[in-house]
Amino acid sequence: MADPIYRAPKGTHDVLWPESARRRALVAVFADIVEAAGYTEVVPPMFEHVEVFRRLGDATDVVRKEMYEFEDRGGRHIALRPEQTASIVRSFGEHRPTLPWKAWYAGPNFRYERAQKGRFRQFDQVGIEALGPEDPHLDAEAIATAWRFYESLGLQQVTLLINSLGGPEDRANYIAALHGHFASDLGSLSEESRSTLATNPLRVLDSNRPEDADLIAAAPDMLDHLSADAAAHFDQVQAALTGLEIPFTIQPRLVRGLDYYVRTTFEFTSGAFDAAQNAIGGGGRYDGLAEAMGAPATPGVGFALGVDRTLMACDAEGAFEATSSTVDVFVVDTTGGEAALLITDELRRAGISADRAWDGRSMKSQMRAADRSGAAIAVIVGDDEAESGTASLRDLRGDAGQDTVQRSSITETLLARLK
Ligand code: HAM
Repeated sequence: MADPIYRAPKGTHDVLWPESARRRALVAVFADIVEAAGYTEVVPPMFEHVEVFRRLGDATDVVRKEMYEFEDRGGRHIALRPEQTASIVRSFGEHRPTLPWKAWYAGPNFRYERAQKGRFRQFDQVGIEALGPEDPHLDAEAIATAWRFYESLGLQQVTLLINSLGGPEDRANYIAALHGHFASDLGSLSEESRSTLATNPLRVLDSNRPEDADLIAAAPDMLDHLSADAAAHFDQVQAALTGLEIPFTIQPRLVRGLDYYVRTTFEFTSGAFDAAQNAIGGGGRYDGLAEAMGAPATPGVGFALGVDRTLMACDAEGAFEATSSTVDVFVVDTTGGEAALLITDELRRAGISADRAWDGRSMKSQMRAADRSGAAIAVIVGDDEAESGTASLRDLRGDAGQDTVQRSSITETLLARLK
């Protein structure tokens, strides 16, 4: 066992091949889908002035307990991003792109959470944010985009939960009603929930302590506190999802962990693994966020999907499997000369992926390396081939055997065979 200092910090992990290739492929699938829907990539910095993230809510766990904050050497108060919506909205305020602005992103986020399976301190997300329209069809488009992405990965056990938190006033009224409800029977709440109630009444609904269950079950319903306007907006989101044939469940207790949400909120859960960490993505509207950051008041809606958890769902469902080879061709050269050096370069320049063995190993050892590489064809240059200006091509996957070609026609022959 390595010295603990030389192990990845708690809540982080190295992603090695082939998992790294699978992640890249997942991001590529996501990029194709969102770019086909008019979203363009934004790459925000991984850290911001801490005030940017304070907008996620002073009472949220993310801000209160989980932020990686520090003062840099210039005395700036900096935080590693715990999510990217706030960064994208900050970027919107800074650059004022034309509306609607449809942005997508992919990359790591940092939260000092209790590390466990599916819950990490550094985790990747892919996501979109659309700023400008209030149109409920944009909410539906965002949800549909995530849904189509999960479909493309081959996931079949994803559930979509939706809710509406209403406008800022509805939300405030509901929070007051919730507070009243819980405060009326404070004695039967768990100690944790009593302290949550003081700072963030909505989050009490998220408690899974058995002693809180009855009071939570009897709590007032968010959907009864919607203004006519918010209710109509939510109805249209539902009608649009129905039109798109995307199945959903209304979950009036769905409270998300960040404070900027108004109106539509949603979450995707996977039925393929345990409840605790089964949220594989989530999002919603945040119509007041831009204004709160000093930008012109601009509605927005978006989502982020957890890459780590999505891949766990893929593992559990046997979907989106990793590829098992790195190169198409492996060059075996036992002459001690430059054949492997020159042939691999020639192949790569022609667009054929190629690797080779090192340190002048024996034929047997190089052939073992060729097999391990997963390549389809071995190019073999031994003393006989070197003398006659040829190379042997051996089929490593099928039973096509081995044949000999002129050294000058290796690339051409391989291009034809690998088609
Ligand atoms: P979030 O629900 O905090 O929302 O995170 C979205 C997803 O990121 C989660 O559903 C989960 O899959 C993944 N995730 C979150 N925390 C962790 C963790 N510690 N370890 C592993 N995966 C994690 C947001 O971040 C919002 N910015 C989403 C959004 C975009 N809302 C509007 N636009």
